[in-house]
Amino acid sequence: MSEPAQAGQLPRILVAGGAGFIGTHTLVSLVQNGYRPLVLDNFSNSSPAALDRVRQITGAEVEAVRGDIRDGNALDQLFQRCADEGAPIECVLHLAALKAVGESSTKPLEYYDNNVTGTLRLLEAMLRAGVMRLVFSSSATVYGEPESLPFQERHRIAPTNPYGHTKAMVEQILRDFCAAQPRFVAVCLRYFNPIGAHESGLIGEDPRGEPNNLFPYIMRTAIGKAPFLRVFGNDYQTPDGTGVRDYLHVSDLADGHSKAIDFALAGNEGANFSAFNLGTGRGTSVLELVSAFERESGVRVPYQVTARRPGDIGEAWADPSLANQVLGWTAGRSVDQMCRDGWNWQKNNPDGYPE
Ligand code: NAD
Ligand code: UD1
Repeated sequence: MSEPAQAGQLPRILVAGGAGFIGTHTLVSLVQNGYRPLVLDNFSNSSPAALDRVRQITGAEVEAVRGDIRDGNALDQLFQRCADEGAPIECVLHLAALKAVGESSTKPLEYYDNNVTGTLRLLEAMLRAGVMRLVFSSSATVYGEPESLPFQERHRIAPTNPYGHTKAMVEQILRDFCAAQPRFVAVCLRYFNPIGAHESGLIGEDPRGEPNNLFPYIMRTAIGKAPFLRVFGNDYQTPDGTGVRDYLHVSDLADGHSKAIDFALAGNEGANFSAFNLGTGRGTSVLELVSAFERESGVRVPYQVTARRPGDIGEAWADPSLANQVLGWTAGRSVDQMCRDGWNWQKNNPDGYPE
């Protein structure tokens, strides 16, 4: 195992996929919680400009390297360079993935290659370098159809699309790897629906092309880039008939990563694989989210009800009590604040990050 950082040095964390939506917010949280992040990103779905904004918010240097997690040689060199500098990587935060559910059905090989093969290459390089702590971005999508709600970590894993399968496969790989390597610690974070943006309005979600998810589509409609929102079905068994999800503020989610790294670095040997739901435990319907957004932004969001989206479930929300108890993490920000902060980002950056 690599030598830990010397006294007085901040623990250095490799953040794979750190330039993306969740990654940038997580970098802010890591700096604020006494970590020294180093980003590795191929910028396939992000921009280096996002990292400049993180530097602006934190006042920290935030090192970054352009590279791909599937490139074992580049990973070896990076781990070695950090060790040579006397500040070895102590934990890897692995957010690097392709994430569009629809696209994963039309390009499954790209998804398995990037998300599954990419993780294998990363784990192999970590083992070679003796880096034995990993926090992995999983998803609530691993559960598929609920057996009962709220979702609990022990519920059946049964994803319904290739993207979800890549996340479930990586969780299984990590389980098996942890059994074979008792000194390795892996923490899987099953995110529910992160939305909103950092309160500064400097960083936020910047989807390329037409957004698939509800909140970015609401914002796209609000800035006039889409004529109306399509509400996918109002005949679900929910109070107003529209789909219910567990939306959480991306800055709360970001703090969950700092807590997970604290936990991973503390060791937890013997129970070296773990998985936690990160959500609020509360459900919000499509129409409730639209109303909250209109109230907070002062902008009307026209919508039309259309057919259900294939593959959608009616309701999903988390039981976050395990993360509350074990990690000491709670998602405290309200849906109103998610809307306020998301709109602050969108109206100040209508075209996303500068090229
Ligand atoms: P994102 O696309 O904004 O960020 C992912 C980052 O990873 C991007 O910067 C991209 O350029 C980079 N990347 C992708 N493949 C890479 C590779 N092979 N090598 C190096 N860099 C690579 O997505 P996000 O919303 O920030 O999601 C981060 C993670 O969280 C992903 O693993 C995603 O599957 C997971 N997740 C996201 C959500 C969500 O709602 N956004 C929900 C559940 C899980
Ligand atoms: C989707 C993904 C899921 C992923 C999650 C977070 C699908 C089938 N699932 O889940 O794997 O983990 O995003 O990235 O794509 N809605 C509308 N109009 C829209 C968009 C969405 O009415 O234009 C509705 C949906 O029907 C749903 C709710 O809004 O009821 C939330 O949708 P979305 O933001 O796509 O998230 P999930 O469906 O939870």
